[in-house]
Amino acid sequence: MAEPRYRTIIEPHRVKVVEPIHMTTRAAREELLAAAGYNLFGLRADQVMIDLLTDSGTSAMSAEQWAGIMRGDESYAGSSSYFRLEAAVKDIFGYRHVLPTHQGRAAERILFGCAVGPGQVVPSNNHFDTTRANIETQGAEALDLVIAEGRQPALDYPFKGNIDLARLDALLAARGPRGVPMVMLTLTNNSGGGQPASLDNIRGVAASCRRAGVPFYIDACRFAENAFFIKQREAGQAGRPTIEIAREMLRLADGCTMSAKKDGLANTGGFIGTNDDALAARMRNLSILTEGFPTYGGLAGRDLEAIAQGLYEVLDESYLTYRMRSTAYLGDGLRAAGVPIVEPPGGHAIYIDAGALLPHIPSSSYPGQALACEIYLAGGIRSCEIGSVMLGRRDPAGGAEIPAAMELVRLALPRRVYTQSHVDYVVEVIADIAARKQSLRGMTIVEQPPALRHFTARFAPVG
Ligand SMILES: Cc1ncc(COP(=O)(O)O)c(C=O)c1O
Repeated sequence: MAEPRYRTIIEPHRVKVVEPIHMTTRAAREELLAAAGYNLFGLRADQVMIDLLTDSGTSAMSAEQWAGIMRGDESYAGSSSYFRLEAAVKDIFGYRHVLPTHQGRAAERILFGCAVGPGQVVPSNNHFDTTRANIETQGAEALDLVIAEGRQPALDYPFKGNIDLARLDALLAARGPRGVPMVMLTLTNNSGGGQPASLDNIRGVAASCRRAGVPFYIDACRFAENAFFIKQREAGQAGRPTIEIAREMLRLADGCTMSAKKDGLANTGGFIGTNDDALAARMRNLSILTEGFPTYGGLAGRDLEAIAQGLYEVLDESYLTYRMRSTAYLGDGLRAAGVPIVEPPGGHAIYIDAGALLPHIPSSSYPGQALACEIYLAGGIRSCEIGSVMLGRRDPAGGAEIPAAMELVRLALPRRVYTQSHVDYVVEVIADIAARKQSLRGMTIVEQPPALRHFTARFAPVG
């Protein structure tokens, strides 16, 4: 840990390899964005100066991870790299069965494909979009039961990712294990602002599930960030090593889905963990069909090595201190510039409340998309709308679209990638936009696919 008498928290690593940023002008970016249909997913990465689209798969790997990549055992069956990953997951997560997958959504598809059926309901604090889509693909309902505080962006509350236990208990009593095949908890709660759930709340979910005879699964993408928030914010947890908190937290559940592209500090990969022997057998069979043999699950041996190492590095206290401080630093800068953000700052991202910043743009004109586009045009910074474009729903009766609960723009920080001066630049660009916010106009959708439309929809500025 750093010397406590100095305030500045330095990056706990130094730069060994650099990747040039391609600088562009506003005029060039106007052409590029129009050609991409005003969808930031449509841009080429080299058309972006600072890429805060996602923290997923964008981590800088460590020297030890690269060393693991050289060590990767590429055997089809029984690779030693698999056993290294399995040992790391068993040590930290504690689940009996570990099935690698090519990324988190593959873990979701396999788990739900084997355990969820039509007419059932899977509650969570907030499901992530791929989780929701994978549940709905099984003909089941993905139900969000986050606490009321979690739906108020400006409210400063330490555990806005908590699930509403009273509503969960009511659902479990009404539907029972036949209607609710599992309860999920997304840690941290990405769709709700990267907010953590408390250990107390996770213990409550585990107890409710046990009483009802319903399995409990954690979407563990950002388990280390959630554990560190517990250490920082929950009474009685400050003195515990984060890895111990993580171990307790994860062992409260019967299993997990994991995207190692987040708190695995890897560029790809994921896994399913479970203590259910029969379910594990069914999932292995499905995995063979679409991911590959169960000791590689769609990954190269070198990827398994990178994840096994990353799962420990992500729990390093110096790393987590720097990680949380750098995210909060971005939030502090925006708040000081009068930009409303989801409070308190999340772990992996700052979420701008575009609905509050741009009250003159209605949800039907996608204020988050309008802001994300302007952030790119002004500064070459790529962010991600998490509002009515991503989470708005079509009215089954054919009426007007049902808007999302919040109109957010997410600035996700890749792990160990950007420095303080990059963050200072981001703050300066967005502060400048906030000062002339009245000039921003909404967007309209001109083309969209039937599901997960935010990836490929095309937009146009409103007249
Ligand atoms: C909370 C959460 N769950 C699941 C996923 C899906 O993981 P992947 O992108 O590896 O498929 C993500 C990805 O962003 C996520 O944030």
